[in-house]
Amino acid sequence: MKIIKSLCVSLITLSVVHGWAFSPKSRVKMVCRKAFLAGAASGALIGAAGVAGAAVAVNQVTNRPTPYEPVPGSMNGKVVVITGGSTGLGLESAKRLGAAGATVLLTSRNLSKGEAAADDVKRYLASKGIQDTSRIYSLVLDLDDLDSVKSFPKAYKELGLGNIDVLLNNAGVMAIPNLQLTKDGYERTFQSNHLGHFVLTAGLFPLLSRDKATVVNVSSTAYSFAARGLEIDNLNGEKNYGPWSAYGQSKLANILFTQELQRRADAVGDSWLTAVALHPGVVQTDLSRYIIGEEKWSELKAKGPSAFDSLVFNVSSLFLKTVQEGASTQVFLASGGEGTLKKGAYYDEMKARDLPPFAKDEYKAKLLWEKSEELAGVKFDVASAQVGEASTLSTITES
Ligand SMILES: NC(=O)c1ccc[n+]([C@@H]2O[C@H](COP(=O)([O-])OP(=O)(O)OC[C@H]3O[C@@H](n4cnc5c(N)ncnc54)[C@H](OP(=O)(O)O)[C@@H]3O)[C@@H](O)[C@H]2O)c1
Repeated sequence: MKIIKSLCVSLITLSVVHGWAFSPKSRVKMVCRKAFLAGAASGALIGAAGVAGAAVAVNQVTNRPTPYEPVPGSMNGKVVVITGGSTGLGLESAKRLGAAGATVLLTSRNLSKGEAAADDVKRYLASKGIQDTSRIYSLVLDLDDLDSVKSFPKAYKELGLGNIDVLLNNAGVMAIPNLQLTKDGYERTFQSNHLGHFVLTAGLFPLLSRDKATVVNVSSTAYSFAARGLEIDNLNGEKNYGPWSAYGQSKLANILFTQELQRRADAVGDSWLTAVALHPGVVQTDLSRYIIGEEKWSELKAKGPSAFDSLVFNVSSLFLKTVQEGASTQVFLASGGEGTLKKGAYYDEMKARDLPPFAKDEYKAKLLWEKSEELAGVKFDVASAQVGEASTLSTITES
């Protein structure tokens, strides 16, 4: 019962944080939110008949879109690196991009989980009648350990996969209840969601294809939580820490990093690079595990849901995107956006969206870049990056 309560709170918080409260333009989302509140008020959680009625009503208003699938073969010969590929949106992206022909390298914090995920992707391809499943790889990457991140480009190079066409910075954590510091001494949400990816992108930059490469950063509409702007002097919770404010700040950092990367690449004539950020929607993944604790979450999953849990999950699933639906925007962007990608843009529902001034703050974006270099002890100079030199980390100079 306690777990259900926290899951209900998570669901409502997730829905508020990730979109429904912050997308007033989206009529469908507003209708969903109203339907949810109305459903809750009318006791839809209690009566099975009510649930069935609500299900029909919600399904009618949501009119769920078909998950985006790139044309089979359209990613043949492309190499895609996906962080956080062990579960959720990362794993689903690996499947869909792999099915379109890409060579996929997914990362995981632990070897066995990564191998299990790669096997899962291979089974998926086989189920689609695709014989060649040998182009799915996994490597260990822990974004909370900068040594792991800094050694990743070398490990990647040793696989012999060649240049990277798409780097999908997807891994993330959300709403860790208390301030936790990583091995490097930085706030965990900030390091997992932003700093680790900053260093990874720097390290892999020389290996990005000079014909055309895309860096896709998975952000969230929770950037709105940081509406007062990026707090450069509180990136690590030095002044104060809140689970949701830390998440909002990290997701704003993803957007500002995307824009700054694009600006710097444009400034030195790197016309081959496109950087984009996105919000996937409110999706049923394991992302809420941090709210109730990763161990408790695993216990809950291992035990399996009670009948009441199932009822709650079934009702909540009406209001959340499935993983297949949620992966659409990043799969769309990673597969080239059908040739329409807007450099430096932020996408939601596969469309470029305008952002409020605080999420386009060039000064803060520059400060974030410099602060990230300083904290990680690296220099990310897009101009001096030498193609193919990742094994010596040419863009990363210990300072
Ligand atoms: N779900 C949503 O509603 C939603 C909404 C907006 C944005 N997003 C964003 O979508 C992205 C993917 O999340 P998800 O919903 O798919 O959640 P998920 O199922 O929890 O997946 C998160 C992934 O990140 C990995 N990860 C976490 N910490 C890491 C670290 N220190 N180093 C390397 N990998 C790490 C996890 O790896 P392990 O398996 O090793 O833990 C896992 O593979 C996140 O950036 C999230 O902020 C999600």
